[in-house]
Amino acid sequence: MDNSLLIEKIRNKFDGVSPKAYVRSFGCQLNTSDGEKIKGLLGEMGCSFTNDEKEADIIILNTCAVRENAEDRVFGIVGSMKKLKELKPSLIMGISGCMTAQSHIAEKIKKSYPQIDFVMGTSAINSLPQLLSDCLDGKSFSADISEYDDFSETAPQIRESTFKASVPIMFGCDNFCTYCIVPYVRGRERSRKPDDIISEVRQLVNDGYKEIMLLGQNVNSYGNDLGGEMSFPQLLRKLNEIDGDFIIRFMSSHPKDASKELIDTIFECEKVAKHLHLPVQSGSNDVLDRMNRRYTAEKYLETVDYIRSKDSGFSLTTDLIVGFPNESDEDFEATLDIIKRVKYDNIYSFIYSKRSGTVAAEMEDFTDEKTKGQRMRRLLEIQREITTESYRRFVGRTMRVLADGVSSKREGYLTGKSNEFIIVEFEGDSSLIGQFVDVEITDSMNWAIRGKIKAKK
Ligand code: SAM
Ligand code: SF4
Ligand code: F3S
Repeated sequence: MDNSLLIEKIRNKFDGVSPKAYVRSFGCQLNTSDGEKIKGLLGEMGCSFTNDEKEADIIILNTCAVRENAEDRVFGIVGSMKKLKELKPSLIMGISGCMTAQSHIAEKIKKSYPQIDFVMGTSAINSLPQLLSDCLDGKSFSADISEYDDFSETAPQIRESTFKASVPIMFGCDNFCTYCIVPYVRGRERSRKPDDIISEVRQLVNDGYKEIMLLGQNVNSYGNDLGGEMSFPQLLRKLNEIDGDFIIRFMSSHPKDASKELIDTIFECEKVAKHLHLPVQSGSNDVLDRMNRRYTAEKYLETVDYIRSKDSGFSLTTDLIVGFPNESDEDFEATLDIIKRVKYDNIYSFIYSKRSGTVAAEMEDFTDEKTKGQRMRRLLEIQREITTESYRRFVGRTMRVLADGVSSKREGYLTGKSNEFIIVEFEGDSSLIGQFVDVEITDSMNWAIRGKIKAKK
């Protein structure tokens, strides 16, 4: 049945009463963006939204599978929601997102969690009206975990923010890093059409959005499947030409594909943020090889040196995995060496989590959990010192900051992100949220920098 007819049918079933929906997304920004599309479709069906699951008539948990603890958390929440269903038998509960794409998880949900009414795969968002219609028709369990090629281009979106927008430019991943579940749950790389992306960004800028975050598991391979129509640097240049006062960010960049052309483009496009998230994962060549990352620490450092030859203070951040199977003391020391050498402004570090179905899950691992925990603490301690030291370079500078919220640490203060993706805290009124302000930096801490507003832009 056509989606618009289904939507009409669902509206009629609700009999003019607007059902309340609770949608919670876990994991990365791509998943949050999918959550915004799920909300958009629910909005079309006449739903209103609540942040309190106890009030909800429809609950959708949009899940992440990247680490075991992410999955455990969702199972914990699903377990605790059983009570809600007992109190309100008409409650509809569904699970979407990356967990559903693993057949053993979909099976476990069906068998062990009868409170769940439907399961919807990562590319099946447009099936939501059908799945809800099945539930309203009394079907006890429905699932659509098929892989679809269309990108839910037509799905409406209810965005979380009125000034920061995520724009997926591609879906899936072809890299098959040996530890990672993403290629199995998100499928192969598919790039959106350049014209669709450009018109979406133009519309967002016209609507007043100030930050555009381009998303993909490896944005550097954007366009590889478009027959040479457009590469990622070319897309950045096109977006940079759009009139308006806004900043373009992107993530993630795989270091094996971070070309000089990309770096030159960042420097030449004034709207592109002067920050690069370049996940290194490990400083050890042996570990990088076993991770199938397809670069060496030396090659990675060549890219860093090229960036820093253009701007010695250029802001870099990274992802790191601690305790990959059989990571030795020497391997871990090599990771410490690379963070000391690169001096990242920030790192996102994770203890390795075994993901069933991946190549690394079959690797022997003699490193005990206690050692992994100790390594993580040491890594974080060293990075704290690096961040504290490296943030001092901003003191005395005036930085352009997009104010994005009220500080939870200091009354009367706002926080925002600088062009370099650094958290900035400054005194200010909440009416400035969503605007660019110039902040004169007076202090640095190990998690943020602090300053005074100089002039409003
Ligand atoms: N595509 C991005 C890239 O390659 O940088 C990252 C995507 S992944 C969702 C985000 C981060 O999670 C990775 O960079 C990696 O550090 C971490 N990660 C992925 N699989 C993991 C695992 N099995 N255990 C621990 N961390 C993992
Ligand atoms: Fe996972 Fe590697 Fe793909 Fe990133 S590039 S999503 S880490 S497989
Ligand atoms: Fe993102 Fe987690 Fe899926 S990190 S792509 S939501 S496995």
